[in-house]
Amino acid sequence: MPLFRKKTPEPELPAVLPEHLAIIMDGNGRWAKKRGLPRRVGHSYGAQTFRTITKHCEKRGIRYLTVYAFSTENWKRPAEEVEAIMNLLRDYLKESLADFQKENIRTHFIGSFEPLADDIRRLMREAEAVTEHKTGMTLNIAINYGGREEIAHAARCLAEDVQAGRLHPETIDEKMLARRMYTAGQPDPDLILRPSGEYRTSNFMLWQSAYAEYIFMDVLWPDFKPADLDAALAEYARRNRRFGGV
Ligand code: FPP
Repeated sequence: MPLFRKKTPEPELPAVLPEHLAIIMDGNGRWAKKRGLPRRVGHSYGAQTFRTITKHCEKRGIRYLTVYAFSTENWKRPAEEVEAIMNLLRDYLKESLADFQKENIRTHFIGSFEPLADDIRRLMREAEAVTEHKTGMTLNIAINYGGREEIAHAARCLAEDVQAGRLHPETIDEKMLARRMYTAGQPDPDLILRPSGEYRTSNFMLWQSAYAEYIFMDVLWPDFKPADLDAALAEYARRNRRFGGV
């Protein structure tokens, strides 16, 4: 019998972290419905979870985090709900512009921004400009984002280059398409996380997810805690990624 008892070790951080983590922040509506509250209240709690989890990702050393805030299909929702989500985005942008000196996060937006209100677009541009020099985590916020729209956009860019004589069609390869995606210059997501118990990709990062690991969790986004993220990171570290090899 040993003369001393070993101390219970601190929970260890996984040895392998995803360099790029992407999250489908799902379940706000159901969270609100379960409580007899309007859906917008679920989004408001979801926005709070987003703030907490963003900070936790940075603390854990994630280099790129992409969150799905509003899809190209979300305009189909009632106007009141769309407005509530846009207001949450507005609030977050104003707050992050005021707080940006405290954080070492580089903010970037992915999606098609023409349909957004002018003031939101201006705040988005400002948030990108003031955090451009940051060296910590890159946070991509997907807003009016659709994976198919992104691929169509990249195809349009290539077509324009061909039409202008800058590019020969026969030279077009995967790298050229990747450079025209909204995430150009960034690594593809290693892990895509979807809480809420739904098992689908919902038009999220279709191009970039070719070799991503998926983790689906049975917790609604407003209830999602840093410990849930840690559990997902531990599960990711156990995965054996082969990228089509052996
Ligand atoms: C999906 O849940 C969530 C959304 C469509 C909106 C996500 C928005 C936020 C978390 C807040 C705003 C974001 C920022 C960056 C401040 P759902 O409504 O589809 O939930 P349900 O499937 O339970 O109905």
